Amino acid sequence: PTYKEAYRPQFHFSPPHNWTNDPNGLVYYKGEYHLFYQYNPMGNTWGHMSWAHAVSKDLVHWQSLTLAIPEDEKNMIFSGSCVVDKNNSSGFAQKPGQIPMVAVYTAHIIPDKSKPDDYLQTQHIAYSLDDGRSWTKYTGNPVLDLHKKDFRDPKVFWYEPGRKWIMVTVLPNEHIMQFHGSPDLKTWSHLSDFGPAGDISGIWECPDLLQVPINGQPGKSKWVLLNSQQFTMQYFVGTFDGTVFHNENPADTILRPDYGPDFYAGITYNNLPPGQDPVLIGWANNWKYAQAIPTSPWRSAMSLPRSLRLKKTSNTFTLLQQPVKALQTLRAAPTEWKNKDISKEEAFPAKGQVLELGAELIPAKAGICGIKLAAADGRAVIISYDAASQQVTVNRSKTGNVDFDKQFANVSSAVTRVPLQNGKLRLHAFLDKSILEVYANDGEVVLTTQLFPYASLDGIAFFSENGVTRIISAKVWPLHTIWQ
Ligand code: FRU
Repeated sequence: PTYKEAYRPQFHFSPPHNWTNDPNGLVYYKGEYHLFYQYNPMGNTWGHMSWAHAVSKDLVHWQSLTLAIPEDEKNMIFSGSCVVDKNNSSGFAQKPGQIPMVAVYTAHIIPDKSKPDDYLQTQHIAYSLDDGRSWTKYTGNPVLDLHKKDFRDPKVFWYEPGRKWIMVTVLPNEHIMQFHGSPDLKTWSHLSDFGPAGDISGIWECPDLLQVPINGQPGKSKWVLLNSQQFTMQYFVGTFDGTVFHNENPADTILRPDYGPDFYAGITYNNLPPGQDPVLIGWANNWKYAQAIPTSPWRSAMSLPRSLRLKKTSNTFTLLQQPVKALQTLRAAPTEWKNKDISKEEAFPAKGQVLELGAELIPAKAGICGIKLAAADGRAVIISYDAASQQVTVNRSKTGNVDFDKQFANVSSAVTRVPLQNGKLRLHAFLDKSILEVYANDGEVVLTTQLFPYASLDGIAFFSENGVTRIISAKVWPLHTIWQ
């Protein structure tokens, strides 16, 4: 592949060929950020699920490696995580000083191929003694079997205060996240259950539990429990004592890491260098139309890696997400507006489909204002702020190719408020051919949206439908491709 195909993201990771869904096994080790991912080695739609593999030194430039964990006769390799077993608790090391990497994943077992719906899901492990290049499936698998049809997506991490491994899994239909503990990654005992809570409108998948630092309170953090539910994600904030997670919000509170239609199955890195904030990567797609998006020879991409913090406002905590700093190395010379008043609509003096935009606005007191990207011929993806409702939305209904699926144009961003800060709205956006990520007010609200604009749709405009919107500053950087 050339990475020059129509709609191919230039700074988001996508596999050279074939289908991908969830990111798996995110782990940092010996200077490398590993990205494993759900992958079909045989084609461009879901099937033959296996773990493919890429590595990066900066979370921006990626190198694809050979298939890490292929499906086998009886089972597909579903989502999971990866740990660095520094103390060789698993005993997989073959000589002194060797450090195993251990992958923990769901084996999706179909005993009779003619009945694909009669499956069983159990948790398996595999290990690598060569920094993730080759993998051996453990002969004692499964390591956890509840004799359940749906029981999956293990996220494992080392819990230092209790000197043990913790595994979080989901019982998708029950809307439960389960916690298990282990001294050696091979034997697991049940600790507690969490849920149902929050959004239970769809099945739960891909859980994660991690500590997130609190902005402006050095050394302080809270526990965040994340999960996906069919078409979007949610998070809970609270405490974890090594056995039980306590949600500190009422059980019906729904908090979302992303309000766009295309952010799913997000998990965070294990084993990051001390002092580095947690990093979250999601799958930039939506099961409603995922297999129909008009791309070839690959299908689907990962979101940008995002650094996480929590922001405290009175007594509630909100996740703050920032695209990782290293992305700034891709910037070419920017074009800038300063102190400009917009009424109606005005074209910005730059173009492109691969760019970063930073803007600070004082929205008009009434009506809708915002930014159009991938704009031309009456088409655009529209990022808008509504003064009355204080909501930011992304509308892709009049972008390029929206016809490949009946639902695509109408699946839009979820609704949430983005209160102005001192009368101002900050928008930080990344357009990468077919993926738009918008970070509002320093990442308090994030919206990830796919669009499939024709190559000729490359304009940028600011608009204010009712009154004057002041652009304090607007800057657009063309971004260099990460694929040479
Ligand atoms: C989420 C998911 C996971 C599962 C994987 C299979 O997108 O359904 O629950 O492990 O995809 O590919």
